[in-house]
This record gives sequence, structure tokens and C-alpha cells, in this order.
Amino acid sequence: MRLSFKLRWPMPFCLGLGLTLFSLPSLAEDAGTLYNTPYDVAQGERYFERQCSRCHGFDAKGNDETGAPDLTGRLNRASTDTGIFNIVRNGVPGTAMLPVDANLPDAQVWQVVAYIGSLRYDPSLVDLPGDADAGVAVFRGKGDCDSCHMVNGRGGRLGPDLSRVGENNRPEELLDALVDPHDDVAPRWWTLRITGADGVTREGFRMGEDSFSVRIMDNDTNLWHFPKNDIQDMERIEQSTMPSYDGTLSEGELDDLVAYLFTLRREDN
Ligand code: HEC
Ligand code: HEC
Repeated sequence: MRLSFKLRWPMPFCLGLGLTLFSLPSLAEDAGTLYNTPYDVAQGERYFERQCSRCHGFDAKGNDETGAPDLTGRLNRASTDTGIFNIVRNGVPGTAMLPVDANLPDAQVWQVVAYIGSLRYDPSLVDLPGDADAGVAVFRGKGDCDSCHMVNGRGGRLGPDLSRVGENNRPEELLDALVDPHDDVAPRWWTLRITGADGVTREGFRMGEDSFSVRIMDNDTNLWHFPKNDIQDMERIEQSTMPSYDGTLSEGELDDLVAYLFTLRREDN
């Protein structure tokens, strides 16, 4: 499977060697740009893996179980590097997001910020082979994607809402989702096949579960509720209900879909 696109990374801010740490600008914004070299990014990544990945994941894409959000797209609580610095330094009060060790030097916090910054990239700098308008047509037409997926309030509910899927996914990840959907399916989209007290087997997405009951939603978006005592048999299917489009759509159509999906991001972006 081929996907070619060019990426131009912004040049790291470079400083003359004459400027040393002793003349650090006092403004936090300026300090951030000091610790933004590839070396700093690598140091930040090492720290992240040790201290942050257990909640946010090794790929920083977040984790449903810990409630730690995806850090690779637009963040909810910060839109500037200084904002991210403050979150990492001070934590988010009242949540599992704790401050870093008070003795950690600012320089190291900035390296973590530089690492987080390196995970996002400017979509306008990405040059994709596909055509987004043609992609919409495939999405609603031949691909029939909207029977399962909603975009901006239009479409089905049998898959995740894709209105902002371009924010947190790189083009190659979007293509992967289309050709290899069974890879890494989130528990929310696992299928449960349950045989209840009436002996009838029903299958659907796991909508909720507690000590006493399980709820699923079937393909016709009916909700079914099973008291655990009544369940005769339950099977968990960790594969995606989405088919692979490798082969059923042409490379050109896949490129067009990727180009379209990549444009899907919050309106005010
Ligand atoms: C114990 C779990 C945990 C650890 C460890 C953790 N975080 Fe978090 N983090 C969270 C949670 C939960 C939130 C969401 C807080 C909220 O806004 O409700 C969060 C939020 C954030 C945010 C704000 C995201 C946004 O969308 O605004 C950033 C940035 C962040 N964490 C970075 C880090 C970094 C860097 C580290 C390591 C130094 C780290 N976190 C370690 C759980 C964790
Ligand atoms: C039968 C329902 C169904 C159809 C049809 C379908 N999908 Fe999906 N799709 C899903 C489900 C369920 C998931 C979540 C599980 C997974 O990751 O595969 C998903 C996941 C995705 C993801 C990953 C989303 C994310 O947040 O990472 C993308 C992108 C996607 N689909 C695009 C498409 C496109 C484009 C089409 C049409 C060519 C399509 N889907 C057709 C059900 C469907």
C-alpha cells in the first residue's frame, strides 16, 4: 500500500552559541524556544516515557482506562507552549493529572513541552496525493462510510464520530484504519455476543457494564440490557465491525478518503 506525502518540519529555533543559560530571557515564552532542539525533544520523550506514558500511553495518544487525554492533537486546556508548561508544572487540580516533582528544573519541563509539540504538526504543511472533494463523494457514495460514521451530525452511529478525526491522526494512521481496521480496536468498539435467559443470542457494542448487568447496542441501534445472573453465555469479539477496504476501494479512492478525513478538524482551527 502506497501513500506518499511530503512533510516539512518547522526549523527548530536556533540560538548563537554566545547566548548561554545565564542570559535566559525571563519570559516563559522565550524560555520555551530555548529548549526546542531535536536533542531537547529526545530528552523530553525519555522523560515522558518514564513519567507520563503509564497514563497517556507510549504514543501519547491517551488511554480510556486512565482518562488521560490524547496529547497529539489540539489540547483542551492549553493552546500555547506556556499553557502546556503550566499544566505539566502544576497539574490539573482535582484530577489524576498531578504536578511534576517540584525539584524538576524548568529546562526539563520545557523539554517535555518540546516533545509534546513535536507530536502535533501543521496540516497545511502536509501535501497529500488525494483530493478531499473526491473523498467526500466516496465517503457518502461508493464507500458508504456514513452508514456507520457521523461527520458534523450527519451519518450513522455504528462507528466513532469522525468530525475531528484529522486532528489526532496522521495520514498514514488514517490509511491504516481503512486497510487494517482490526489492528488495535478500542474496547468501546468490541462486540459482545450474549445469550440471555430467553436463550436468544444477541450481539452488539458494549455500552456499559457494572457488577450486575451488561448493556449492548445492536446494529439497528436497539439497546439490550442483560442482568448478569441471566446470562447463559457471553463472548467478546475484539475485532472491528468495520470491513477492510484494501482491495474493495482503489488506491486512488483510498488516497482521496485520506485527504478528506485529514481535513476533518474543529471548525475554528
Ligand atoms: C496518573 C495519570 C497521569 C499521569 C502520570 C500524567 N497525566 Fe497528564 N493527564 C492525566 C489526566 C487524567 C488528564 C486530564 C485532566 C483533565 O483535564 O481533566 C491529564 C491532562 C494532561 C494534559 C492536558 C491535556 C489537554 O487536552 O488539555 C497535559 C498536557 C498532560 N496531561 C501532560 C502530562 C505529562 C507531560 C505528564 C508526565 C510529566 C503527565 N501528563 C502525566 C493523567 C495523567
Ligand atoms: C459497518 C460499520 C462501518 C463502516 C461501513 C465503516 N466503518 Fe469506519 N469504523 C467502524 C468502527 C466500529 C470503528 C472503530 C473500530 C476500529 O478502530 O476499527 C471504525 C473506525 C474508523 C476509523 C478510525 C477512527 C479513529 O478515531 O481512529 C476511521 C478513520 C474510519 N473508521 C473510516 C471509515 C471510512 C472512510 C469508511 C468508508 C470507506 C468506514 N470507516 C466504513 C465502523 C465502520
